[in-house]
Amino acid sequence: MRTISVGPNKWAIPELALGCMRIAELESAALDTLIATAFELGFSFFDHADIYGAGRCETVFAESVARLKIARDRMMLQSKCGIHDGQFDFSRAHIVTSVEGSLRRLNTEYLDVLVLHRPDALVEPDEVARAFDELETAGKVRAFGVSNHNPIQIALLQRSLTQPLLFNQLQLSIAFTPLIDAGLHVNMRDEPAVMRDGGALDYCRLKGITVQAWSPFQHGFFKGTFLANPQFSALNAALRSVAEEHGVSDTAVAVAWISRHPARIQTILGTTSPLRLRDAVQSQDFVLSRTQWYEIYKAAGNSLP
Ligand SMILES: NC(=O)c1ccc[n+]([C@@H]2O[C@H](COP(=O)([O-])OP(=O)(O)OC[C@H]3O[C@@H](n4cnc5c(N)ncnc54)[C@H](OP(=O)(O)O)[C@@H]3O)[C@@H](O)[C@H]2O)c1
Repeated sequence: MRTISVGPNKWAIPELALGCMRIAELESAALDTLIATAFELGFSFFDHADIYGAGRCETVFAESVARLKIARDRMMLQSKCGIHDGQFDFSRAHIVTSVEGSLRRLNTEYLDVLVLHRPDALVEPDEVARAFDELETAGKVRAFGVSNHNPIQIALLQRSLTQPLLFNQLQLSIAFTPLIDAGLHVNMRDEPAVMRDGGALDYCRLKGITVQAWSPFQHGFFKGTFLANPQFSALNAALRSVAEEHGVSDTAVAVAWISRHPARIQTILGTTSPLRLRDAVQSQDFVLSRTQWYEIYKAAGNSLP
């Protein structure tokens, strides 16, 4: 598995991570096969959140790694906080309590990364800073990041924080590209020119923040996968054509499209299928050409100026 170098200390993380949002309902045997396959393929980075399955995803993950006897130092565990009861909460109390809950459910003494899940309109950056300092000093969290944040929100937080924000987790797939569209339509009056994220992708590159792509196989907001979806026939044909050229799966090309971006994005896969993990990891065997990258982008229904 290729690695991505994160932050000033050049922490090496795998280019592909396993998102654990959908694992709560898996039977134990199926979950063990998924996690064992992930390890076999080099997915040693796992993305969680306190709210996934109302906490159950963290619990069943810990039970599975215990059954599989996987040592803690072979895994990188990331969890998120900041959403509860359908609202957003970056208060010190919520952040600290949430992390303690995640540690308990994950049966671990520390998180490798804590991510603030979605911006809280009532955020007090100094309060977040106190929570982060407390968690870091106690050895409960080693690194910090955000999710779904725009550049100004990151800068506002960072001004108060001692620790660098190392990650911004954002939605990105070949069928969901607002992060890319506006940068291609600068100063134009068409729809793709509308900047919805404040230039988050370029800002993260500028500041050395690693972008993590969530929902790499989904279109819209949890509308389902575009893969093998007749609504996306041109896109699937383009993926198939490149897949045949490289002798890999369509899934691998969809991942490779994200990996080809020079921002060195970490892709967080949410599949519960070991087979699809194997398909996705074929993306490690090739790199899309510039031409292929743009052809796939256009096949997804996007226009270039
Ligand atoms: N920060 C945030 O706000 C945020 C939001 C959402 C998610 N996330 C993170 O991102 C991770 C990934 O998100 P996601 O689960 O939405 O990602 P995803 O990998 O795009 O979607 C996975 C879903 O698509 C299905 N799927 C994939 N390929 C398919 C195919 N060819 N045919 C049919 N179904 C297919 C999977 O089914 P199978 O299981 O059967 O393969 C699974 O239900 C989550 O686990 C979570 O960690 C973060």
